[in-house]
Amino acid sequence: MRIEGGTPLQGCVRISGAKNAVLPILMATLLAAGEHRICNVPRLRDVETSMRLLQELGARVEREGDVLVVDTTSATGEEAPYELVKTMRASFLVLGPLLARFGYARVSLPGGCAIGARPVDLHLKGLRAMGADIKIEHGYVVARSKRLRGAHLYMDLVTVTGTENLMMAAVTAEGTTVIENAAREPEVVNLAEALNRMGARVQGAGSSTITIEGVSALRPSVQEVIPDRIECGTFMAAAAITGGDVRIEGCIPQHLQAVITKLRESGVWIETGDTWIRVRGEGRLRGVDVITMPYPGFPTDMQAQMMACMTLAHGHSVITETVFENRFMHVAELQRMGADLTIDGHSVLVRGVERLSGAPVMATDLRASASLILAGLAAQGETVLSRIYHIDRGYERIEEKLARLGAKIWRER
Ligand code: UD1
Repeated sequence: MRIEGGTPLQGCVRISGAKNAVLPILMATLLAAGEHRICNVPRLRDVETSMRLLQELGARVEREGDVLVVDTTSATGEEAPYELVKTMRASFLVLGPLLARFGYARVSLPGGCAIGARPVDLHLKGLRAMGADIKIEHGYVVARSKRLRGAHLYMDLVTVTGTENLMMAAVTAEGTTVIENAAREPEVVNLAEALNRMGARVQGAGSSTITIEGVSALRPSVQEVIPDRIECGTFMAAAAITGGDVRIEGCIPQHLQAVITKLRESGVWIETGDTWIRVRGEGRLRGVDVITMPYPGFPTDMQAQMMACMTLAHGHSVITETVFENRFMHVAELQRMGADLTIDGHSVLVRGVERLSGAPVMATDLRASASLILAGLAAQGETVLSRIYHIDRGYERIEEKLARLGAKIWRER
């Protein structure tokens, strides 16, 4: 991706469906035999990987525009292979549904990834408490159970996909399951709504206690994926860092309160409506401190983009990552562009500089790629971002959307 920096972004952009909502909703189709329709599905590499995984498990999956039709009638497979799980950790979300429907599942352990160790121990602990017999064999989790039983689960720490996996396992369990210290992310709520449309009885999603009353069977249904709050936050940051004026359509501002608050604190003018946000950069940003937290705190998936903004701010800022152990891979790349950054344990001290200069840089993970694009948009001269396959995992046609806002950005074929 080649970026010629220095143009303030202007105009209107529409937000796509949320990656982190569509993945669990896709996996949930395994819970009920029949034809499911999922609307507002973005064209992302992670969605393609999920489609391949579902096909591998015997489902028929077709795209009709932004609708995915998933027929799980003849799904019989029970194995999620390493080849797919290693490219997309969210594949691990098939464990709960497969175990609930077939009483057996063999799912590869994800292993580490660029942003840290990311264990799945809490997923397994919860399933064991629901009566599953779980063994680790040859790098795979092998889980067996007759009908799972409802249980009172306390999550040692807040995990998004852990909460989702256990919620999906519990919907057809015998009796009631309570998940305490559950993740409160909007994507968890979207999944709970999807499960309820399939006939499940899930209550409390969006709070830290979720109660699931087991039902005997679910039915297929039509689902709607919420807008991607991280894509939206990234465009907000793009408007802010370039000193532009951008109206973002088709979003849910309420899901972005932490990001809106921080950007306003740093001097950005923001107006919100029911389904839109207008962001105008007014002069140089001010340095503000940011600490990542589970929702409704500041999202770790926006940490790298916020850091890009802070590199050009007036004054200092301290950015602290509390969710993942190793999520500062973008620091060294931003330094190549002239950012003044010092890592100190889980924090980065950002001393704002007056300008960044374009450079060849390398994407290391999805959100790191986004931060380097943002830095490139504001830098003087040309930035060439390599390993851009990371960005396609989670942003739908980002260069086309940015170009329509006036950015000078090209993808090399
Ligand atoms: C999800 C999101 C990801 C986001 C993250 C945090 C999806 C598909 N991905 O990832 O974009 O960055 O939430 O908002 O929704 N942990 C354990 N044991 C477990 C599970 C998690 O120790 O069994 C730890 C992790 O290592 C991490 C923390 O809990 O330090 C939070 O991770 P988690 O919420 O599980 O992230 P994901 O669900 O993988």
